Amino acid sequence: MTLSVLPSGKTLGAEIVVDLAGDTDDATFRRIEAAFHDHIVVVFRNQRLSSERQIAFSRRFGELEIHIVKKYLLADYPEILLVSNIKNAAGENIGLADAGFTWHSDVSYRQRPSRCSLLYAIEVPEQDGVTLGNTVFANTIRAYDALPDSMKTWLAGRRAVHRYSERMRVANSPRPKLTAAQLAETPDVAHPIVRTHPFTGRRALYVTKGECIGIEGVPDDEGRAVIEELHDHCLRPEFHYRHQWRTGDLLMWDNATAMHLAICDYALPQRRLMHRTTVIGSVPF
Ligand code: SIN
Repeated sequence: MTLSVLPSGKTLGAEIVVDLAGDTDDATFRRIEAAFHDHIVVVFRNQRLSSERQIAFSRRFGELEIHIVKKYLLADYPEILLVSNIKNAAGENIGLADAGFTWHSDVSYRQRPSRCSLLYAIEVPEQDGVTLGNTVFANTIRAYDALPDSMKTWLAGRRAVHRYSERMRVANSPRPKLTAAQLAETPDVAHPIVRTHPFTGRRALYVTKGECIGIEGVPDDEGRAVIEELHDHCLRPEFHYRHQWRTGDLLMWDNATAMHLAICDYALPQRRLMHRTTVIGSVPF
């Protein structure tokens, strides 16, 4: 298969030019995987993917997560989570309407968080020819590298506690409250604040103030202050790439080396509809 990689010229991001509509042979897959590890966020433009194809391509990267909010799984395809502001005839959201409105890394609340997520753009909002609902990514390898040595030393071996039920949400979040069973299924989990990438060995920050409630063995106030400092450090624009969506984009990001934020600058009748597959990763170290 022919394939080319066009770097974004930013701190992360690249376009991979290849048609994913058919099976991807092993040699092509290995080149895609290598480009993905190099660029952290990659986009495949102008795709025409059935749900089966998105699932099959995503599975090349590992086992797929079935999202805990079952209400928004695509009928007959539970591996696909609907991310959307669209409402059905009864006035109910058809998908997660507030996914990613605070900085986060997908599924950090699991023992085995996500390796990568793949988001397929079916409807993209726009106004006066300008695309709305962009997604911003922060390169947390670069953010780690830029820390002072004293902070790197202090962070070595420390673990932050991630709590799904206290994950920061927008005011009046439309998503259903977690049931007692779902809460029991998502106990607190501690992950290293400095994470080693399981494939490349590169080190990256793995902490956001919207997901982490403290640092093990550190008094609450002090832990929260460090989490906020690291989070704010990652918000420096030089670490960022902003993805402007087009219909037919399949965007894929590395949850071990990037955190992301979905910009909510649109509202109905401007519609946004995305299909997300989420690949389970390994235990962070
Ligand atoms: C997400 O965080 O998975 C959703 C990102 C987006 O909708 O842009």
